Amino acid sequence: MENKRITIPEIAGHKGRTEPLVCLTAYTTPMAKILDPYVDLLLVGDSLGMVLYGMENTLGVDLEMMIRHGQAVMRGVEKSCVIVDMPFGSYEESPESAYRNAMRVMKETGCDGIKLEGGTDMADTIKYLTARNIPVMAHIGLQPQSVLKDGGYKVKGRQAVEAQKILEDARAIESAGAFAVVIEGTVEDVAAEITQSINIPTIGIGASPACDGQILVTEDMIGLLEGPSPKFVKEYTNIRKDIAAAAAAYAGEVRNRKFPATEQTYTRPKAVPAKKAS
Ligand code: KIV
Repeated sequence: MENKRITIPEIAGHKGRTEPLVCLTAYTTPMAKILDPYVDLLLVGDSLGMVLYGMENTLGVDLEMMIRHGQAVMRGVEKSCVIVDMPFGSYEESPESAYRNAMRVMKETGCDGIKLEGGTDMADTIKYLTARNIPVMAHIGLQPQSVLKDGGYKVKGRQAVEAQKILEDARAIESAGAFAVVIEGTVEDVAAEITQSINIPTIGIGASPACDGQILVTEDMIGLLEGPSPKFVKEYTNIRKDIAAAAAAYAGEVRNRKFPATEQTYTRPKAVPAKKAS
C-alpha cells in the first residue's frame, strides 16, 4: 500500500518555508486519531512517563514503554510523520547500542524516525545512526533527561558561554545528519540565531516564534494536568474541568438512581400473543 504519511524529507524540506511545522505529542491510539488531521508530526515523547505514569521526571521511562506507545500511536495515524523518543539509558553508552535500540523502535513500531537528546556529545551517535538509515531528530537547549545533572528544568542560553554551546550543539547535530532539531527552553535570540544558521528545521518548545515549527505536550495544551505549567505553555482548553464535571454528574446520577435509565437498559422482547386458529 502507498505510504500517504508525511515523510522525513518532507519535514526536512520545510526549512525556509513561511508556514511553520505543526507538531504535538501523542501516546495513545485515540489521541493520535484526534490530532492526526491537524498536525505535520506527532512525537511519542518520553514525557509520557510524567504525563501518563505520574513519574517525577522522564528518567524511569524504558524502551518497552516507548515501543508499546509508539505502536499505539501508529495505529491511530493516517497522515502525520511519527517520531519516537529514545528513553534515558538507551542510546548514550555507544553508537552501536544506540543503533540496536533505535532499530528495535523502528522495526517494532513502524515509526518514521527517532529523537534523542544531546548536541556535540551525541554527534558521533547521530552520524552512526543516520549512516545506517535511521532518521534522527535531535533535542538541544533544555534537555529533560539532564534534569538531575542540571539541578532542575532551567531556561538555557541566558549566559554568553551557554548560548555559544547551544549554537555549537546545533551545528554539530546538523553536520552529523539529523533531519530536524527540537530546541527546548531557550531564549529567543539564541533560537533565532540557530534557526538562521542551520539548514534543518528547528522545532521550538519554549524557544520563541523564531523557530521553523512548534511543538507542545498535548496534555499541557488541553489543560489536563494539575498544577502550574511552564510559561511557554498555552492552554487552548481545560479538559480537566470538563472531565471533573462529567464525573460529578455521573456520580450524582448513580447515587440518585437516575443512571442507567431505560435508554441504557436491556429488556426482553415483549411476548407476542399467539394467533387464534380460524
Ligand atoms: O518528551 C517530549 O514530549 C518531548 C517534547 C517536550 C519535545 O521531548
